[in-house]
Amino acid sequence: MRDTRDDFPLLKRRIDGHRLVYLDSAATSLKPQAVIDAVTRFYTHHTANVHRAVHTLAEEATELYEDARRSLARFIHAHENEIVFTRGSTESINLVRHGMPGLRRTLTTTLEHHSNLLPWGYEEQSTVVSVDRNGQFDMQALEAALKQGVDLVAFSHVSNALGTVQPVKELTAKAHAAGALVLLDAAQSVPHMPVNVKDLGVDFMVFSAHKMLGPGGVGALYGKIDLLERMGPWQLGGHIVDGVHLEDYDLQEPPHRFEAGTPAIEAVIGWGAAVEYLSDLGMSQVRTHDLELVAYALQQLAKMPSITLLGPTDPERRCGSVSFHVKGLEAHGVARMLSNRSNILVRSGFHCAQPLHESLGLLPSVRASFYIYNTREDIDALCEALKAIVTFL
Ligand code: ALA
Repeated sequence: MRDTRDDFPLLKRRIDGHRLVYLDSAATSLKPQAVIDAVTRFYTHHTANVHRAVHTLAEEATELYEDARRSLARFIHAHENEIVFTRGSTESINLVRHGMPGLRRTLTTTLEHHSNLLPWGYEEQSTVVSVDRNGQFDMQALEAALKQGVDLVAFSHVSNALGTVQPVKELTAKAHAAGALVLLDAAQSVPHMPVNVKDLGVDFMVFSAHKMLGPGGVGALYGKIDLLERMGPWQLGGHIVDGVHLEDYDLQEPPHRFEAGTPAIEAVIGWGAAVEYLSDLGMSQVRTHDLELVAYALQQLAKMPSITLLGPTDPERRCGSVSFHVKGLEAHGVARMLSNRSNILVRSGFHCAQPLHESLGLLPSVRASFYIYNTREDIDALCEALKAIVTFL
């Protein structure tokens, strides 16, 4: 993959004369100039609302907005009518939770981000399957639950806490054989690897723009069209209707029936630019780069006796991040020292996966997460800074 660092203006920033080492892309990614330009261009030349007025600017804005939907659909091999814009992965999950009829018996796992656990895990008929220290599901428990009858299985493609990649096709085939639908949380996978929804076979998939170079405040729900047609909106308002009378109203077809109110137009257009940027790089190359960084980070951190790595040791079974504990030091303290002393920016804590940590008896951890603009030098800088912290204390 080509060196992309010059495309990211934030990487030129210096603090106390030193460069930033940004290792928190699992939380949100940096934005390339191409995305910043697309948003600025919209504000400068095309500002208008979409799907409403017939004037020139409104038609241009609508065209740009729908172009972005088409780009996104191509990116994950879906049909454009199967892409619903939402505020993010969290809202997409909640849209399915509240909009899809007949989801009483749901199954999720202890590995999930809170956003994929809270909507499913606390109902009377829900099952929460545990995972081991590598993030592998308890398959006996999963199969037993499926035998009892499950309406929907919700799980993440890539764990934001352990980095584990799940065998989605295999799990989806099992769920389908038992008559369950599958919702895939792909917030941490779509930015890093080629994802083909038709090949995976999932029924719903959720992901967010801001983790894949795009603006904040927008995400998408992919849903098979026949399922979206069975779903109702969970928010009512302008644009979702064909006709409104005092007695009743007619809903639009998907995806428009789910996009009530003025959407995040500039963010969607910026997301379209992000998708074009990633497509130009090539998602296979993006995945190869990710694998190289994860493998190198695992190898270098494993050499340090005071570091305990979390998650699978095989880089092929991981994506995007490496979490770890530093002996005798609390995670937030390590992250603060890395930032204050070396401009190295990582996340620390439970990573919105507290039940995972609690069920495995794990303390909060430090997470270094990578993206296309990271290099081996960033990982070397992290290791040097950790060595200095451990020696200093
Ligand atoms: N879900 C994001 C993370 O894992 C915020 O950091």
